[in-house]
Amino acid sequence: MLELKSLEKKFDSFTAVNKINLFINKGELFGFLGPNGAGKTTTIKMITGLLLPTSGNILLNNLDVWKNPIESKMIIGYIPDQPFIYDKLTGRDFLCFCGGLYNLSDDFVKKKIDELIEKLRIDEWIDKRTEEYSQGMRQRIVIASALLHEPKLLVVDEPMVGLDPQSAFIVKKLFTEEIMNGTTIFMSTHSLHVVEQICTHVGIINNGNIIFNNTIEALHKLKMERSHNLEELFIQLTNKE
Ligand SMILES: Nc1ncnc2c1ncn2[C@@H]1O[C@H](COP(=O)(O)OP(=O)(O)O)[C@@H](O)[C@H]1O
Ligand SMILES: [Mg+2]
Repeated sequence: MLELKSLEKKFDSFTAVNKINLFINKGELFGFLGPNGAGKTTTIKMITGLLLPTSGNILLNNLDVWKNPIESKMIIGYIPDQPFIYDKLTGRDFLCFCGGLYNLSDDFVKKKIDELIEKLRIDEWIDKRTEEYSQGMRQRIVIASALLHEPKLLVVDEPMVGLDPQSAFIVKKLFTEEIMNGTTIFMSTHSLHVVEQICTHVGIINNGNIIFNNTIEALHKLKMERSHNLEELFIQLTNKE
C-alpha cells in the first residue's frame, strides 16, 4: 500500500530523515514512534505532499506521490498535528466545504456526514460554530473531514494529544473499525499505551533513522527479553544512538 524508499529530508546540512525504508501493507495500523524531533512530522509531511523530499521516493499503490499529486491526495486522508478549521463555520459547513475540495457530490457528502456524526458522536455539536468546540470536539471534526472521501490510507500525526478520555476512546475505536474495513493507517504518536492498544505494526524513528520496524508481537517479544515494560524498552532503544 505505502512504500518509503530511501526517503531523505535535509534542512540545509541537517538531516531530519535519513534515507528511511518502510513498507506498510493494506489493513495495517502502523504506529510511528519516536522522541521529539526524531523526524515523524517531517516524514508525514513528505508522504502527504507538503514537504519535498531531498531524495528517495514515496509510493502509494505503486504510484509515486510526488509525480501524481492529485491522484495521491484522493487516496490519502490526512490529520495534521496542528489542524486548521474555520472558527466561524459550523462543523457541518466545514465538512461540506471539505467535501467540495474533493469534488464529492452533495448527496454523497450529506450521507457521509450522517454516518460520521454517528461514529464520532458529534450530533450535539455539528451545527454549532467550531469556535465553541473543545479540543476533543475540534479533533473529531478534523477526523471526520479526513474520512469524508473514504481514503484508502489515513495519515495521522499525533492524534491523541490533548484528547479527553471520551474522545480518545472514540478515536481509537474508529481507527480499529477503519482497518477492519480495509483502510490502512499510518499514525505517529507519543503514546506507547495507544500503540499497545490498537497498532498492528510499529516503526521507531530516532534521529532520522529507523531503529525498529516489525509487528506489535515482535515488539512485545523484545520487551519481554530486554525490559519490564514498553516504556523502558523505548528509552533503551532511543538512547543507544
Ligand atoms: N522547516 C524546518 N527547518 C529546519 N529544521 C526543521 C524544520 N522542520 C523540522 N526541522 C527539524 O527536523 C527535526 C525533526 O522534526 P520533526 O519531524 O518535526 O520531529 P517529530 O515530529 O518527530 O517531533 C527536528 O530537529 C526539527 O527541529
Ligand atoms: Mg511531530
